[in-house]
Amino acid sequence: MRVIHTIAELRQALAGTTRTTLVPTMGNLHAGHLSLIECAKEAGGPVVASIFVNRLQFAPHEDFDTYPRTLERDCEMLRAAGCNFVFAPNEAELYPEPQAYKVQPPGALADILEGHFRPGFFTGVCTVVLKLFNCVQPRVAVFGKKDYQQLMVIRQMVRQLALPIEILAGETTRAEDGLALSSRNGYLDATRRVEAVTLSRELKGIAAALRSGRRDLAALEDAAMRSLTARGWSPDYVAIRRRSDLAAPSSGEALVVVAAAKLGATRLIDNLELDAAS
Ligand code: PAF
Repeated sequence: MRVIHTIAELRQALAGTTRTTLVPTMGNLHAGHLSLIECAKEAGGPVVASIFVNRLQFAPHEDFDTYPRTLERDCEMLRAAGCNFVFAPNEAELYPEPQAYKVQPPGALADILEGHFRPGFFTGVCTVVLKLFNCVQPRVAVFGKKDYQQLMVIRQMVRQLALPIEILAGETTRAEDGLALSSRNGYLDATRRVEAVTLSRELKGIAAALRSGRRDLAALEDAAMRSLTARGWSPDYVAIRRRSDLAAPSSGEALVVVAAAKLGATRLIDNLELDAAS
């Protein structure tokens, strides 16, 4: 596995390769990322993992400065997982001048849910992802369903800009108790780590209620928000949405429940897909 820090070296290394698959990450890797690498390997070509903590997608009050940077350990994990290249540019390499040209995704998808609570987040994500696509020129890219809305925004960007890239979705990897793996889980102390599973339990509770025939979506969302609050969380949203565009559903559509909530200073997100029949 080759670790590359500059765009020029990357282009040289990848010249002549076909069907390259990119797995974009911000590092501090865990088993969830490794499952995306497995997914990428199935595409058959060389696998490039990018590691870059993207300042553009963090608001000034968020955790850009403290976001864990663990390049050496990440590279060991990627080598063991069979990744072929790591692209780990520094900020001066990816943003040598202020990034004035940005990708602004449509508000109907990007200003709701995560975008509502993290204004500008998806502009930052789309801008860096498009730039990484241009650096790596992959035929395939893999994103996790854990960041459900991000996956949808990227898919829409690829479609609307006619990028010749197939987007694959990796399933969410969970700890034994059901907590979705996330780099931010590392911020949780032992007590909060135990409590953290409540978020996925609330989603499962909503799924069970829908399966049992309940259709009072707002009441279910509200009950989950209140239950989280009562346990000391500060929920941003718990929302039952249609899977196709994350808009409010009408009947008979495939649904997804998405949620974001803070436990102490740690903001966690999770989601659960439900069948149309749920
Ligand atoms: O999901 C992430 O880790 C980031 O948002 C991404 C896609 C690597 C862009 O910085």
